[in-house]
Parts: sequence; structure tokens; C-alpha cells
Amino acid sequence: MFDLAKKIALITGASRGLGWSMAQSLAKAGAHVVLNARDEKLLSERVKTLTDQGLSAQAAAFDVTHFEAAQACIKDLKKQWGKIDILIANAGINHRQAIQDFELENFEKVINTNFKAIWVLCKAVTPLMVEKKNGRIILIGSMSAINARPSISAYVASKGAVHALCKQLAVELAPNQITVNCIAPGFFATEMNTALVEDPQFTKWVQERTPVGRWGRVEEIGPAAVFLASDEASFVTGLIMTVDGGFTSAM
Ligand SMILES: NC(=O)c1ccc[n+]([C@@H]2O[C@H](COP(=O)([O-])OP(=O)(O)OC[C@H]3O[C@@H](n4cnc5c(N)ncnc54)[C@H](OP(=O)(O)O)[C@@H]3O)[C@@H](O)[C@H]2O)c1
Repeated sequence: MFDLAKKIALITGASRGLGWSMAQSLAKAGAHVVLNARDEKLLSERVKTLTDQGLSAQAAAFDVTHFEAAQACIKDLKKQWGKIDILIANAGINHRQAIQDFELENFEKVINTNFKAIWVLCKAVTPLMVEKKNGRIILIGSMSAINARPSISAYVASKGAVHALCKQLAVELAPNQITVNCIAPGFFATEMNTALVEDPQFTKWVQERTPVGRWGRVEEIGPAAVFLASDEASFVTGLIMTVDGGFTSAM
């Protein structure tokens, strides 16, 4: 079950954190993984880590907000492999500031990275998936689009848009056997959350507020992605799958 052999998977933001975890899980399940991020050197190291284990991987360094570069990558992958079976649109950033101080430039940066780039990527991979009458699109949202927090208005808005887009594309692409699902992670101790992880008061709050009683571990996100990417998940579409240690289920 959940064998991804012969599948080509593009994962954005795959050089560290949750993206790297999902890339490792997909590669271990047999997929050829195309790792994207901006840091070319780190990506090459990641590819080497996978190929040293006998897994199949390549790097595709580009900034997801450089929309032409993203489209060009998908064109290149079509030329190289003839298809893309799985897209995991994961690259994301945050900017924390009270709304009254939030600058439009930072708002746009977050929206462009977390939302607009995802729309562009989905639009670019869709024709390849329609041609094969098969595809798996996995968007990375956030539990912040379900339970909001102060000081992250652009982030929450971008993730809310991702959740809505997931449902919309699930309906639009279902006739072509393309599933579109969204993983909404809870609090994971990644680089994005360094400041929060290092704040003992915040960590105490996370431990008390999360039913499982701790931060998520990055290796706990990959298996969810493998399931959604698998042939076995063919009837699962439009799902917002929280992976949050029960956070959004608790009062
Ligand atoms: N960690 C959490 O608790 C949490 C919770 C909910 C949702 N999420 C979501 O999960 C996703 C991954 O988060 P994370 O915590 O793993 O973040 P992270 O550790 O900061 O990693 C972000 C990844 O995205 C890449 N990236 C950032 N901007 C990019 C751009 N413009 N173009 C291409 N790649 C870019 C980064 O590499 P480069 O900097 O080299 O480009 C890196 O590989 C995000 O969408 C985030 O919103 C995370």
C-alpha cells in the first residue's frame, strides 16, 4: 500500500522543515522527488542525502514568486519525464506584526509566496495531469486558517485562501481524476517558528494547549503526504487534513 514507485513529485520549499520531511517520506515510498527552494547549495546537499540512500531525487532551485521560473521548471520536467504526478505546494513564509504597523510590501510578500505562487503552480501542472487523467495536488495550509492568532494577518489570510482554493480545485479537477487536498499543520518546531520555540512561555502554552502535549515533530508530516499522494487516496479530495496533535479539536 502507498507505493509511489514511478511517480514524479515536485515539492516546493523542500530544503528544510516540513517540505524536506515530506520529500524524504515520498522518496522512501518510491517516488522520484524534485526538490525546490531558493538555496541551491542546500538543495544539492539534500539531493545527495537521498541519492546516497539509493533514493531518486533532483533539485530545481527557483523562487516560487518568480512565476515565470516556476512555469519554466514545470515545462522542463514535462520534457524530462513526460509528466508530473504529484505537486506538493509547501513553500511558505510568515511575517509577524500588528495590523496597524504591517506594511503593504510585507503583506504582498506573504500573499505572493503563500497563495499566489500556489495558484500559479496549480495552473501550470494541471494540463500535464489532465493529459494523464491522473494527479495528486497537495497544498500546505495551516491550522491558523481555522483558529486565528494575533499579529499574523497576512499569513492567516493567505492560508485561508489556500484552504478555499483546495476545495474549489478539488471540485473543478475531480472529473479528470485529479485529487486536491490540503494539509493544515499545527505547531511544528521548524525554522519558521524558531522565535516561538525559543520562547519558554510560548512553548509551555503550546504544550498545555495541544492535546498531544508537545510541538509536532517534522517526521510526523510526511506520512500524511504519502497517503494523500497515493493511488489508494483516489476518493479523498477537497479534504483539509489537520495534522496538529488535536489542537483544533480542543476547546
Ligand atoms: N512549522 C509550522 O508549525 C507550520 C504550521 C502550519 C503551516 N506551516 C506551513 O508549512 C510550510 C512549511 O513550513 P516550515 O515550517 O517547514 O518552514 P521553513 O522551515 O521556514 O521552510 C520553508 C521552506 O520554504 C522555502 N521557501 C521559502 N520561500 C520560498 C520561495 N519564495 N521560493 C521557494 N522556496 C521558498 C525555504 O527554502 P529557501 O529559504 O532556501 O527558499 C524552505 O525550504 C509553510 O507553507 C508553512 O506556512 C508550517
